[in-house]
Amino acid sequence: MQTRITLKTLYEAKRNGQPISMITCYDYATAVLLQQAGIQCLLVGDSLAQVILGHDSTLPVTMDMMVALTASVRRGARQAFVIGDMPFLSYTISLDKAISNAGRFMTHAGCDAVKLEVDHRHLDVVAALDRAGIPVMAHLGLRPQAAKQTGLYFQARVAEDGLKLIEQADAMVRAGAQLLLLECVTAEVAGEIARRVHVPVISCGSGPECDGQVMVLHDLLGLPQASGAKFTKVYGQIGQALEEAAKQYISDVQERRFPDADHSYHISTEEHLRLKSLLESS
Ligand code: KIV
Repeated sequence: MQTRITLKTLYEAKRNGQPISMITCYDYATAVLLQQAGIQCLLVGDSLAQVILGHDSTLPVTMDMMVALTASVRRGARQAFVIGDMPFLSYTISLDKAISNAGRFMTHAGCDAVKLEVDHRHLDVVAALDRAGIPVMAHLGLRPQAAKQTGLYFQARVAEDGLKLIEQADAMVRAGAQLLLLECVTAEVAGEIARRVHVPVISCGSGPECDGQVMVLHDLLGLPQASGAKFTKVYGQIGQALEEAAKQYISDVQERRFPDADHSYHISTEEHLRLKSLLESS
């Protein structure tokens, strides 16, 4: 059995130059399978608004949904390092609200850390959660929750922007972030950040020089709502396999091949005869 992955494990992996693997996950059954496969970290991303609920952005997801699904992932994967993703407006209204919402991920969902999308204006939130004893993954770079303000473009294309991001990463770590996630940051700048901070830096489309990689499950498995982004790769056509299985089932039902006697419960011959005579005499 895999041993429990903790922050200490992730820091050791960084120190030893062993890349950390992370996949997004949103339900119990998938969590069981991903843990059996040996995944180290599961991120219950707010991407579930898109890939599970079919919305066109991450904004509509609520704390209640996130906590319920994160708890199901934890039940399926007791050993993995599970990170809950704080939804839009769950950490920006007030520090008190941020702490109580992050606390729900820890106490109700059994998370190991929470992730929040941040820039230099959120240092106080990261510090407040750290003071409350909640491990924080600071998500920098492209921030889907801010897409209506900033658009969705890859980040740090020019030196000045690279420097700003590097300074933000340093500031987040000083404020107490224990993990960083860089989304769609140029690989050179992401590598620079990973080399200068002591905390593990996970890349989501930010190149190979980070300490680990995360991919959205639906991108990895070729499921509907896969982004098809440049930095994703399909490792299994599970969407196709599911469609094929469903087609087979539909045809078996329509052609009366399913269910057969083996897939049915049966009354004994004696009881069947008795039933017939009861029916005749009723
Ligand atoms: O919500 C999510 O799945 C994420 C990943 C894309 C990093 O934040």
